[in-house]
Order: sequence, then C-alpha cells, then structure tokens
Amino acid sequence: MHCTRRITDDLYYVGASDRRLNMFENLYPVPKGISYNSYLIKDEKTVLFDTADHAVSELFFENLSAALGDRTLDYLIIQHMEPDHAALLQSLIRRYPGVKLVGSAKTLTLIGQFFGEVNAEFTAVKDGDTLPIGSRELTFYTAPMVHWPEVIMTYDPKSKTLFSADAFGTFGALGGSIYADELNFEKEWLPEARRYYANIVGKYGQQVQMALKKVTANDIERICSLHGPVWRKNIDWYMDKYQKWSSYQPEDPDDVLVVYGSLYGHTKNAAEALAATISHKGARVIVRDASNVDLSEILSETFRCGKLVIACPTYNMGMYPPISHYMQTMKEHNIQNRRVALIESGSWAIASGKLMRESLEGMKNMTIAEPMITVLSSIREDQCAVFDALCDDLLGSNAQ
Ligand code: FEO
Repeated sequence: MHCTRRITDDLYYVGASDRRLNMFENLYPVPKGISYNSYLIKDEKTVLFDTADHAVSELFFENLSAALGDRTLDYLIIQHMEPDHAALLQSLIRRYPGVKLVGSAKTLTLIGQFFGEVNAEFTAVKDGDTLPIGSRELTFYTAPMVHWPEVIMTYDPKSKTLFSADAFGTFGALGGSIYADELNFEKEWLPEARRYYANIVGKYGQQVQMALKKVTANDIERICSLHGPVWRKNIDWYMDKYQKWSSYQPEDPDDVLVVYGSLYGHTKNAAEALAATISHKGARVIVRDASNVDLSEILSETFRCGKLVIACPTYNMGMYPPISHYMQTMKEHNIQNRRVALIESGSWAIASGKLMRESLEGMKNMTIAEPMITVLSSIREDQCAVFDALCDDLLGSNAQ
C-alpha cells in the first residue's frame, strides 16, 4: 500500500525508507536505516524530484502512482545521478513514456554511462535557468561536488522550498513523521546528520559554501533533501551547522576527541591517562579506539571537536594501520583548524610521532601542542609532568 505525505496543497513526499541495509555505499554502517526521498509537485505540469534506490522501488512506484492519481508524469528533475536516487530512471521512463528529463549537462553524460541510450527528451539547465510548470517557475542551481559533479538544486518560489539534493541530508530511516520539528532532531538525529555530512560531503566544504551562497539568496521556508527529514522550522539552526561543517570550523571548539590505536593496552593507557588529565582540568573529552569504532563515527567527531589527541604505536616502521587510515581520511576530507596533541609509542625505533607530524603538516592550519608524549613500551609515573604540560598546551588556546 502507498505511503505518501502531503507537504503543501500540491507538493507530496513520495520517497521510501530502507531499514535492512547494513552499509550505505557498502561502506558506512547505517544501523538506523536510510531514507531515499522523492517529491512530486502537481501544478499544471507534474514534476518529480528524483527517483530512488532499487531497494525501495516497489513502494516508490506505488507512492508515485497514488500521488499522481489520474495524471501522468510530465517532468523528472534529476538532481543527482548517484544510484541511490537514479537507479530507477529506466523503469520510470518505461512506466511514464513521454516524461521529460531535466538535469545539468553532466547529468546527460552520466545517464549515458549508467544506462546507455534512454528514450526520453533531455533538457540541460545551467545556473539560474527556469522551468515554467503552471502557477510558478522552478529555478535551478548547479551544485557541483555536492556530492557529485552533475548535482543541481531547485528552488520553488510558490512553496518557498529548496530541493537540496544530498545537502542537508542525514542517515536514518523516516517513519511516520517526515518533519525534523516533529523529531527530537538535536538529540537523536544530529549525530547521524553530522556523520552523513562528514563522510559523504565533508571533503567538498568549499563547494558546499559556494552552493549555499547561491541558494540562500532565496527566501527559504522549507528544505527537502534527498535523505532524512524535511525542514520547515529552525532552518537557520541547521544552516548554521552546515556553515560550520563546510568551513571546517568545529561545532564544539573546546571539546577534545582522543583517538588511539593500541596493540596490548600501553598506548591506550597513555591515551586514557591524558584524557583523565584533560577532564580534571575541566574540558569535555571523549575517547575512541580506532580499532573498534567505525572510522565514519571518528571522522564525524573530528568535525565536531576543536581539539584532538592522537595516540599511535609504531608498526612495521610506520603508523599503526587504524591510525594511519584515520589520518589519511582526515586529510582526504580536508580537516583543518584543529589543535592536536600527539602520543607516540613503540619498544624500539619509534617512528610514529614523526610520521603523525608529517601527516598533520600536510593539512591546513593544524597546530601541534607540545611536548609530544613518547611511550617507550609503557608509561612511567615520572612522566606525569609531561602529561600535565601537554594538556595545558592543548587546552591553553583555541585554534580559531
Ligand atoms: Fe544520496 Fe550522493 O547520493
């Protein structure tokens, strides 16, 4: 049975959620599932914003058919070609012959790559192009690399809605309510929204900033993303999160994230001793074992916290692999503007400290607190003063 929601008189939610998927992009755990959002405007023309993932095809087509009623589909706006939104393109064209496709020029290239020839007219749109559909004209904005090169966003002036593609999305299945203001978003959804942003779009902060600058020139009363709830209240609050994330400014400048790798517990011991010292001095601190906590969550907390402690054993003359992977991921996602304390360890030929420093030097505006702690097999009681000094330097000033 269909499961649609009416958002305004002529705007409908026709998407669907998946709670059986283990990993989004076969990479990121989604224990709370994920929604594939799709929206339909019924004006003089009917306009669909994106299809959905194969996994929800049955409900998606039922929803679309129910929302259309006795009308056919005139336009499909393809805001994003990633298969979680575009997988059903061919099926849609077969069901609604005559549907016209709208996207960026790059969209057409990707349609060819994914599907070969499709039997539908395609219109390529650029920044500021419009499409009259009856009582209003939709305006299109290119948003390259948010999160693929072909992405467009769409503004509907009648409902003052921004159709934002992946932007403002979150992991998590929708159920019942589709509105952020009907959920306990800050407590129950924000960590997943942050994890989604950091891992999916986080690398492209500059492109997110450029897209935000363009679309926020409009009066936005509603944001309809391709994942997660619809925003109709407190939009400025969520916009502020996006401004911070996309400019790599920490949400919590004084919070400390401790990430450690440890083979037998000695580096863990040093990380926890430093965390205890940090807490004793009044800062909020969380500790994550890089071997046991999913990297997507650690990256998400890295976006949130202003201060980092990284503790790494030497392994095969390099960094312990989970920490090496973490630092590579930080670099790939353009993490910057953080203050970082380092703990190196090993029992001979210790190299991890030097390698961590080199890695941080390859990132922008990363300040290393001193002195670095060296764990020679295990930490000793007489190192307490070094812990204290490092803690003071880490907490002493902000990276801003
Ligand atoms: Fe939700 Fe980039 O696809």
